[in-house]
Amino acid sequence: MMKILSFFLLLLLSCKLYSQKFNGLALTPPMGWNSWNTFQTNISEELVKGIADVIVSSGMKGAGYSYIVLDDGWMTMERDPKTGDLIADPKKFPHGMKALADYVHSKGLKFGLYNCAGTKTCAGYPGTRGYEYQDARLYASWDVDYLKFDWCNTEGINAKEAYATMSKALKTAGRPIVFSLCEWGTNQPWRWAAPVGHLWRTTGDISNLFDGVLDHGTWQQQGIMRIVDSQDTIRQYAGPGHWNDPDMLEVGNGLTVAENRTHFSMWCMLAAPLIAGNDMRKMDESTKNILTNKEVIAVNQDALGIEALKYRDNDSLQIWFKPLSNDEWAVCFLNRSSKAKQMDFNWQNETVNDTLSKRELNARTTTYKLRDLWLKKDLGDTKKPLKATIASHDVLVLKLSK
Ligand code: GLA
Repeated sequence: MMKILSFFLLLLLSCKLYSQKFNGLALTPPMGWNSWNTFQTNISEELVKGIADVIVSSGMKGAGYSYIVLDDGWMTMERDPKTGDLIADPKKFPHGMKALADYVHSKGLKFGLYNCAGTKTCAGYPGTRGYEYQDARLYASWDVDYLKFDWCNTEGINAKEAYATMSKALKTAGRPIVFSLCEWGTNQPWRWAAPVGHLWRTTGDISNLFDGVLDHGTWQQQGIMRIVDSQDTIRQYAGPGHWNDPDMLEVGNGLTVAENRTHFSMWCMLAAPLIAGNDMRKMDESTKNILTNKEVIAVNQDALGIEALKYRDNDSLQIWFKPLSNDEWAVCFLNRSSKAKQMDFNWQNETVNDTLSKRELNARTTTYKLRDLWLKKDLGDTKKPLKATIASHDVLVLKLSK
């Protein structure tokens, strides 16, 4: 009797420990790199090793990027006919996934993979449906740290149940694995996914367009501003350990320097996961400087984990405020128009009241010092009105501290 009781106690304790490990992950938005935006299924061991090396040598690791995630296309077209296991494509990954994970870990980084809740992935490789526990065990045995789980070929299954099953499978496999839901916001995952995963896509796929939509007939890709427009109504659902994910970064993938800066700033203001999607082995100085700006990243990684609120939206000029720890704030003045705009902002006439964080910014009662986070320069304080010219598609990002 005692033996049975201790067995169940042990089981209960280990379940609790695993779930604590799962819940303690991604307390700030995950940072890393994913292969999809630049390489689609043209991925290989050599690419991953090159990216791991450059994350370290370029200062990206030092700035906080840690997950290297292989997206769609890493498997063979069929599972192992005997065991049912997924197989890493031996042409692309001749030494297998465990060896690759070991390499990534040897650089002090973490390793992630992709699969899909349906019968096949979006690019037609074997999906996980019906193999959830088996696949989770395989990932754990390869020392995988992150799983992106897509939504193609799901043929009417229930999203909440499908993602809960994979979440349980990962917890049961016993390795702390960040679980990234990718069902494009179709079933409003922000309403139910916080106990299931650590981040959930809120939109369809991003593109390297500043604004507008790329129409492919059966599916669409959205520009940066288009995505920004759908985020401020769901800010209350995100927080430490569970993030809205407006998709991976397109910084360095063909936008102008101002647009790269704006895209990155807004992802930081929105407490979005910062998953770079460029070929970092070839990135230019300006892309590197944007992706590694530690002062802007600190806004994203702030421990409170509260997304920015849209405070004003007037004639293509928007103002976003993000409450930060230590009674600080970040503000982003965003010029979406095709012309430079003059910004006149008298702090003394403004009160920012955030009902979500229950924080108020009132420069009449508190004077804040201002710092320009892109120029890395102090700018005086909130006693004086702010006058600035903001270039087309550009931003001014300030930190306010007492
Ligand atoms: C979907 C996802 C993308 C990417 C591809 C891979 O479109 O939304 O992010 O993972 O599938 O096929």
